[in-house]
Amino acid sequence: MLSGKDGPAVALAMRILTKVGGACGAERLIPVTSAHIVLAMYKSIFDAGVEVCERFAELGGKFVIPTTLDPCGMDTESPEKFKTPKTYQEKQRRVMAAYQKMGAIPVWTCTPYLTGSAPRLGEHIGWTESSAVAYVNSVLGARTNRETAVIDICIGLTGRTMDYGLHKTENRRGQVLIQLDLNGRELHPFEYPVLGYYLGKALGSRIGVVDGIKGSPSTEELKNMMAGAAASGSVALLHIVGVTPEALTVETAFQGRKPEDTIVVTEDILLKTRQDMSTGKKNEVDFVALGCPHYTIREIEAVTRILKGRKIKPGVQCWIYTTKSTAMLAERMGYRQKLEESGVILTLETCMLISPVETWGFHTIMTDSAKCAYYAPMQCKTQVLYAPVEDCINAIAADQKGGEAL
Ligand code: F3S
Repeated sequence: MLSGKDGPAVALAMRILTKVGGACGAERLIPVTSAHIVLAMYKSIFDAGVEVCERFAELGGKFVIPTTLDPCGMDTESPEKFKTPKTYQEKQRRVMAAYQKMGAIPVWTCTPYLTGSAPRLGEHIGWTESSAVAYVNSVLGARTNRETAVIDICIGLTGRTMDYGLHKTENRRGQVLIQLDLNGRELHPFEYPVLGYYLGKALGSRIGVVDGIKGSPSTEELKNMMAGAAASGSVALLHIVGVTPEALTVETAFQGRKPEDTIVVTEDILLKTRQDMSTGKKNEVDFVALGCPHYTIREIEAVTRILKGRKIKPGVQCWIYTTKSTAMLAERMGYRQKLEESGVILTLETCMLISPVETWGFHTIMTDSAKCAYYAPMQCKTQVLYAPVEDCINAIAADQKGGEAL
């Protein structure tokens, strides 16, 4: 590949992989079964990123393994509705065209593991998108490092990645024991992101082993927890005893060794973390953003149920970020129509942070996402308020009667 026998795009990709692999201490490259690309949104890749995508496409690059794409930098259905500037749209369309030419699977989502690309236990893959990486390592037991932009394209074009970090069994060993001390109670759904946010900060890049989660967390709870942990820290793998396939017991998660450290998570820690996740005030909320990572059909159904047909207050926007396939289900099940009657809009295949949301001039975003709570002040230049989805909806529904108790 390096010598150019598979064409100039593959040769360029291989030159990059071998150089970066050397810097990372990898002794070899290994085959991977899928790639996921974060170099997808114009707001974060700028002109240089557009040129990178186009360069690989012009050189004749074709993805040789299933290669999915992170959210697009704008709503793919009606960017005009979301005030996406014309020049921005043009640049984003160039990125879309380049990936189409290279044969990417255009799912445009941060949840590719729910959209036709779910790796199995022990499968080596090369993915970017921190929330997805944390999910597939921790929940499915797949093996990927937190790859980076450009490297992700190189992985898709060659079907290879660098053999270091989380591809090696010994590097997946737990380092820090996390004990939940919550008097034996189960976590509320909205506490999973809070726990993730706290653990990201407490762990940094160390691998935690969470012991003491009661009950059986849902896919959505794990998705939202992993996104929080991967945003506030550089978590790529979190063992959850009883959930992570490599952590059926505490002992197996630590591979028979002793923990290097122990963290006890108490009620006070969860409460304090939840407070720290907010910078804004409830009466200043002008935007409720849900779906970071992209909402599932169950989460959309929950919003419909909480709303109970109530209308959103004038002067406030409420958008749900989701995939095209989930939106199709929401339409078939009548949720999308009900939400739109209430003033809640589905926005498709894009990201609440890495899209030009600042064109709306919002002051305070209210969200049920720990990842959004972490990044919105930086990315969207707004205040942020973290709350359970019930609070988000009840705060902006015009008729307060009939709201569900929290
Ligand atoms: Fe997805 Fe964007 Fe959030 S990629 S996880 S919606 S920051």
